[in-house]
Amino acid sequence: MKTIEKPGHISVIGAGYVGLTTAVIFANSGIKTFLIDVNKDKIYSINRGKSPFFEENINGLINSAIMSRMLVPTTSYAKVIPKSDIIFCCVGTPDNADGSSNLRFVFDSLKEAAVLAKNGVIFVQKSTVPVGTGSKLMKSLRNTAPKLDFSYVSNPEFLREGTAVADSLNPDRIIIGGDEIRALQNVADLYLAVGSGPLESSIKKADFIYTTLESAELIKVSANAFLALKISFANSIAKLSDKVDADVVEVMDGIGKDRRIGRAFLNAGRGYGGGCFPKDVSGLISTAKDSGVELEIMSAASAVNSSMPDYVVDKLQSRAGTLRGKRIALLGLSFKAGTSDTRRSPSVVLANSFIKRGATVLAYDPEAKFEDGELSNKVRLVKNFESAVRGSNIAVVATDWPEFINMNFEQIAKLMKGNVLVDCMNALDKRRAVKAGLDYLGVGRS
Ligand code: UGA
Repeated sequence: MKTIEKPGHISVIGAGYVGLTTAVIFANSGIKTFLIDVNKDKIYSINRGKSPFFEENINGLINSAIMSRMLVPTTSYAKVIPKSDIIFCCVGTPDNADGSSNLRFVFDSLKEAAVLAKNGVIFVQKSTVPVGTGSKLMKSLRNTAPKLDFSYVSNPEFLREGTAVADSLNPDRIIIGGDEIRALQNVADLYLAVGSGPLESSIKKADFIYTTLESAELIKVSANAFLALKISFANSIAKLSDKVDADVVEVMDGIGKDRRIGRAFLNAGRGYGGGCFPKDVSGLISTAKDSGVELEIMSAASAVNSSMPDYVVDKLQSRAGTLRGKRIALLGLSFKAGTSDTRRSPSVVLANSFIKRGATVLAYDPEAKFEDGELSNKVRLVKNFESAVRGSNIAVVATDWPEFINMNFEQIAKLMKGNVLVDCMNALDKRRAVKAGLDYLGVGRS
């Protein structure tokens, strides 16, 4: 049996979903972990045991790691980088206007670390970067710190927002890409230390897959692109289902039973959003273009996705008539349940589209936070479900939060003035809704 080397100190740069989750898991596994972020407010909040964003089960892990002093959140590279054996890069990679990835934070943060790092350090890339970034970055780090002896490893992350902790502790696979066996092994040892530590996890059962740097980079974006493709496929079949009186949920249940296909990520609805799929799809299209490859299939997936919010609004309009002057209760604004994140949320696109068509929108979400100003200021945010629904002509479930899925249809029917219920996530019990007197409208569920 392989012996696990005692892991040294690590730094994690970037306290977003990936960085904070990675840091608290390592710290709770007995590994001294420095968490660096330039945002003082984030570091202040984490030092007080509170995540800067909503994420299930994370505050308990932050608290225990801070109490045991195994997690040291800081804004200072100088204080912690010289003591670090392994440095994880978990900074954001937003997209540029042309769809390509903006790698400024990745390059800047690792260059800042390289001038302070000690010889033998291993840089581990967890940020989602286009294939080819690692080799460019290594060149840049050699220019920045010519005397530094370092290794570079790509170790992409597959956690989902909302289930970040559980996903990290129970991965299907751990991808580790690079040329230097020692570095790959040291990174694997960190995960094995988590697998043998106090946190309940199935890491030891995960497949450890060692690849070249480029393959690891491409695995990450291709995995997201493929999942996005599945969703757009389901949405295309949903449009057809509407025309031929089929129910897309039944269709996907039927095809998903084929083990070669699988049921996951075949839920049709208002389309995908968030900080990953939209930008990773456009990033992959852009990288492919740079290499002379036209990824038509991904362009089609992206176009289908962009069409979905309007498809839902048009469908509603043909059922309920003009939306001008109608009062709409919009339930859910985050890009999916379990997260406060509203980046590229189709629910926000829906809200704005209702406003454009002259409706009054009262929106409620249990956790959503707005940082990017994408939501029209005409949307009235209310504090609870009832305030949104009371007196509305139309209720729209735009995000599949459990409190919406489990709503009492009789109660909602009484509270509403009208009776049209739009299920943008196909997550509600259609029969029960109809039984309660609601005019149910799903996506592809004629
Ligand atoms: C996604 C991937 O699932 C993770 O594996 C990956 O690590 C992450 O991106 C990332 O690159 O960081 P995430 O963006 O958190 O995770 O959310 P998902 O659960 O994948 O959902 C993405 C969007 O697709 C949501 O808007 C969701 O509502 C939508 N979706 C998902 C559907 O419309 N239908 C489905 O069947 C599944």
